[in-house]
Amino acid sequence: MDESERLTPEELRTLFLFEGLDDEQLQWLAERARVDHRAAGTTVFAEGEPATCFFVLLSGAVAMSRRLHGDDIEVSRTDQRGVYAGATQSYLGDRVDQVYAHTLRAIVDSDFLVLPAAEFAAAIRNWFPMALHLLEGLFFGTRASQTILGERERLIALGSLSAGLTHELNNPAAAAVRATSALRERISGMRRKLALIADGRLDGRRLHELVELQDSAVERASTAAPLTALAAADAEDELGEWLEDHKVSGGWDLAPTLVAGGIDEEWLSSVAESVGADNLESAVRWIAYSVDTELLMGEIDDSVSRISDLVGAARQYSQLDRAPQQTVDVHELLDATLVMLQAKIPPGVRLVKEYDRSAPPLLAYGAELNQVWTNLIDNALGAMGGSGTLTLRTWHDDNGLLIEVGDTGPGIPPEVRPRIFEPFFTTKPVGEGTGLGLDISYRIIVNKHRGDIRVQSEPGDTRFLVYLPINPESEPGPAPE
Ligand SMILES: Nc1ncnc2c1ncn2[C@@H]1O[C@H](COP(=O)(O)OP(=O)(O)O)[C@@H](O)[C@H]1O
Ligand SMILES: [Mg+2]
Repeated sequence: MDESERLTPEELRTLFLFEGLDDEQLQWLAERARVDHRAAGTTVFAEGEPATCFFVLLSGAVAMSRRLHGDDIEVSRTDQRGVYAGATQSYLGDRVDQVYAHTLRAIVDSDFLVLPAAEFAAAIRNWFPMALHLLEGLFFGTRASQTILGERERLIALGSLSAGLTHELNNPAAAAVRATSALRERISGMRRKLALIADGRLDGRRLHELVELQDSAVERASTAAPLTALAAADAEDELGEWLEDHKVSGGWDLAPTLVAGGIDEEWLSSVAESVGADNLESAVRWIAYSVDTELLMGEIDDSVSRISDLVGAARQYSQLDRAPQQTVDVHELLDATLVMLQAKIPPGVRLVKEYDRSAPPLLAYGAELNQVWTNLIDNALGAMGGSGTLTLRTWHDDNGLLIEVGDTGPGIPPEVRPRIFEPFFTTKPVGEGTGLGLDISYRIIVNKHRGDIRVQSEPGDTRFLVYLPINPESEPGPAPE
């Protein structure tokens, strides 16, 4: 026979939760619920443990807390008789994670009515079938629509990013195509020159000299420092005149190529000396070809490297070829996100990066963190509307990394501030904001990484601060005595 202390049906009726139950139901409860005494300072149940019981406070006082990166944050404290906690969702069965969502402590000696989760679930199912349907609809319906809309938000973000990326890829790709077809033309021109040589119209010694000149021209072209537009125009005038004076026909057309290749009057004079006036024109043309091909190859090299950098950033951004949870360098993630968002950053917005490069790598869900940076940067750019300063700052301490996204927009009005992390809360016009960006960001940072996300805002200075623990799994150590 069970020796536990019990309440009578009449005593149970005095608890607000049970006031509508009939005698039979109260009797059923009285037989199954026991009274538990807990001393001041003891834990009644702990966050994350299997939720096995439903608790009702009979006397005393309790504090409820949640764990946030190692700290216990007290979320409520009460001595109100009849408040309940524990396995409050047991009637939803195994479709939800049946663990305690909080930690409950007795802060003075307290008494609880304790009902096993299975009994509590059975009571709700049997006594309130209609209420159960409504609760299930509310719970699973909200969850499903949030999942669908979260997915949609991700797709919208991805769509606008891939539009940005396509735009970014287009320029270097078009440049590479242009340079390649120009190069093909030059090479066929050089082949014709080779045919002249093969015909024996150039003797061996000349040919040798030309090859040497070509090598030194290529050398100059590949190391030439770029000139300002004005300096280049002056140099082209000078060289054009020199070529005209030396009877090189079409000299004015050749001058820009030669200048771009770092070739000056002095160098051409030495060429004239070594090949002689008669051969000067073909030597200069030969050199111009060489310089031109060198420059075109440089252009192709630059464009293709740019494309490959962009593809690298896209891969880093999506983390497609990596495991979801990986050791990541947050700065690489931030930079990849910036590349992806490049097209969205208007010319009037100045970007300031203050990275703490000594910050250690951390175990994280990289692609999801990128979604957070994307949301925060997108919001910052949206708030500034075309001009201002976007600041990305990082620093670290022994426990974690801090990442700040700052903007100089108008700020978040105090009446809006408490709502910004709510799903679907947006101040943007219909069709522009989904109101899910910060909700998703919060869930990624707080639920998935056991981190924290906060905001400080005044007009002209809004900062979203993300905290990521370096070692999210570790429990706080014992307090020093
Ligand atoms: N940097 C910011 N400056 C001013 N307001 C902001 C900023 N970031 C977010 N907000 C406010 O928070 C709201 C919610 O943001 P979010 O969840 O990303 O949804 P959305 O961007 O779709 O509106 C925004 O509509 C805006 O009012
Ligand atoms: Mg947003």
